[in-house]
Parts: sequence; C-alpha cells; structure tokens
Amino acid sequence: MPKKTLKDIDVQGKRVLVRVDFNVPMTGGHISDDNRIRAALPTIQHLREQGAKVILCSHFGRPNGAVDEGARLAPIAKGLEKVLCAPVSYSQECIGPVAESAVAALQPGDVLLLENVRFHPGEEKNDPEFAKELASLAEVYVNDAFGTAHRAHASTVGVASYLPAVSGYLMERELEMLGGVLNNPRKPLAAVMGGAKVSDKIAVLENLLGKVDKLVIGGGMAATFVKAMGASVGDSLLEEDRVAFAEEVITRCMHWTVELVLPQDVMIASEFSADAPSKVVDALEIPDGWRIMDIGPAATKSFIAELEECKTVLWNGPMGVFEFPAFSQGTRALGQALASMQDAVTIVGGGSTAEAVAELGLADKMTHVSTGGGASLEFFEGKELPGVAALLDK
Ligand code: 3PG
Repeated sequence: MPKKTLKDIDVQGKRVLVRVDFNVPMTGGHISDDNRIRAALPTIQHLREQGAKVILCSHFGRPNGAVDEGARLAPIAKGLEKVLCAPVSYSQECIGPVAESAVAALQPGDVLLLENVRFHPGEEKNDPEFAKELASLAEVYVNDAFGTAHRAHASTVGVASYLPAVSGYLMERELEMLGGVLNNPRKPLAAVMGGAKVSDKIAVLENLLGKVDKLVIGGGMAATFVKAMGASVGDSLLEEDRVAFAEEVITRCMHWTVELVLPQDVMIASEFSADAPSKVVDALEIPDGWRIMDIGPAATKSFIAELEECKTVLWNGPMGVFEFPAFSQGTRALGQALASMQDAVTIVGGGSTAEAVAELGLADKMTHVSTGGGASLEFFEGKELPGVAALLDK
C-alpha cells in the first residue's frame, strides 16, 4: 500500500518532527562521510520553505539507552549547518523541558536537532510513554530515515500513533527506486551480489531468484559457490553450512532459467593483508594455503559484458577486499562499468557497496545509491519495514 508523503500533508507554519538517519561515519570527532545528511536536505528545505518549524531527531551509534558523551549529536548539528548553509540549533535532550524550550524558541523556517534518541531506554523498546513525549513536541511527523526503517523503535514507529505520519522525500525516493527493482523493473534485470558471506544474503537471494534474469556472484561469497561446484577453495572464507544452499541456488537457476554468472578466475593471496603475494588462477583451481581476495580479470570482463545487456542492475556487495588497493580492481571496474550504463537503471545497495561507490567518486553516476545498509537488505528480502508500515496509507 503506498504511503502518504510530504506532498500529501499541510505543514505550513507547523511544528514538524522529522526522523532522520544521521548515523554517519565519524573519525576523530569529524564527519567522514556526510551523504546521509545531504540526502535529508530536500525534506528539510521543503519544510523551511513552508515556514514549518523543523525538529530533527536521530540516533547515532548504539549507546544502549544511556548517555554516552562520545555519541552526542553536537558535531552533527555543525555538519548539518555547513551543508544547509543556515543555522541549526541543538538541544542536549530529545524530550522534557530542555527540548520543549528549544522547540518553543523556534521561528518559522528554523531548524533544531534534538539529542541522540538512543540515550533513552524507551527508544529501542518502542516505549509508548517515550514515543508520546517525543511526539508532544510536534504537530506532524515525517519519517525520512530510510536507513533506520527496519527498526521498530519509538522514533521510527511509536510516534506515528500520536501524530499524522508521512514519509519524507528521501524515504519516498528510496521506496520508489528499490521498490522498482522488485515490482516493475525494466528487463532484463540482473542482481550482482558480493561481500564476504552467503549467510548475510540468503533471504535476499531467496526473494530475488524468482525475479531476476541474471544472478552474478562475486566477492568472498563466491567461495561457497565454488565449493558447491565440487572444487577446493584453499584457505578462502568458506561457510560449510551454506554450501547446500549454494547448491540449491545453482539448481534453481537452472530450472528457472536464471542465468547464473560465477567468476571464472579469481585473484588469490597467500594471506589476508594489503601487500600479500597474489596471483590470478582459475576459480576451480585454488591451491591450498591461498584465499580469494578479488575476482580475476576474465571474470571482471565477463561480468561487465553480462551486465551491459541488462536494463536494470541491482548491486549489493563488493567484488573483493576493496579496502586493499591491490584487491580492489573487480569492484572498481564493475562500478565504472555500471556508472557508464546510461540507458540502464543502476541501483546500489547501501553499506559497504555505497561506501565503495562513494570512494570511487561514482555515486552521482548511478541511478540511485541507497542510504540504508541493513534496511535495504531487509527491503530486498521482501520484508515490510516497520518504519514504513507505521506511516499513513495514501
Ligand atoms: C545503519 O547505519 O545501518 C542505521 O543507522 C541503523 O543503525 P543500527 O544498525 O544501529 O540500528
């Protein structure tokens, strides 16, 4: 059921509580990647233009229901100020008298960031009292935190019981883009899956297998498929208990005429380190004492050729140990190829794939890069996200 969005509700001059996901990477107290903050700007700007009083709330880290000085949102308020080019006030509490007086001081168009909602035990427990107090600050609730929509917490679900609740522009775009892959993709549709483990992707594979025309498997998880084909994987990370599942995927692809594309060659190393001795071998001939670190050049070429025939590509998971430059060529080449496919819809799942694409400077060349890691995985598993379910139906 489609959900009401910011376009369906009058926010003129109102106090609007906006759940954002400002759980951004920080290094030494500084924001190292502000994509999630930038992604919330269309909603914030719209509300400001409508003369709304914008009350932002977010979590940061996992402080487990207690105040953690290192998880305060003050540096994030500063980061938001910079990208918004407007002042952002900050309240050291997210509920109670301190928050109430910060809200009372707002003028139309002003922006306030409340303190980390996870400092309160009621947040993750979706405690109705905590949700009610948070909701009491506003007249309308907007959820723009796609990255946290898979959590049934007070600020993502509970508050929607007390306020008219709609999605923000980021949430709307994420649902439209990711939903398009599942529900009405331009065909042929390919899913490229990578990353270390098959176990993280089982439910996604289960859901996508009935929808995709091609399934491309790279990254460390390819080892489990190599094993399922009866070959040795040397010292590669192998999930023995998932080999049967990989066998099932291979069989299902055959029966359902899904083209399964596995790496024909891999780059292997004698240890897990950035400067380990390495070589390229046939994927079915990995010697003992060596491990998969990246897809090989022939695999990279054939993956790209397969994907170039597609009209929609979903990419989730790096092709190798991308953080080590010597083992980043597969991820890099694949990213560049997708970025140049101007006629295709290219969707990048969040988390490490989004980080890789950002590092390569390719994010704005993709159709959409999701801001949700866990949330996008659960979405592609076909689950209804609680933070979305709580919003008003259209
Ligand atoms: C994320 O970074 O994936 C989201 O902000 C959710 O964070 P969480 O896994 O701590 O709930």
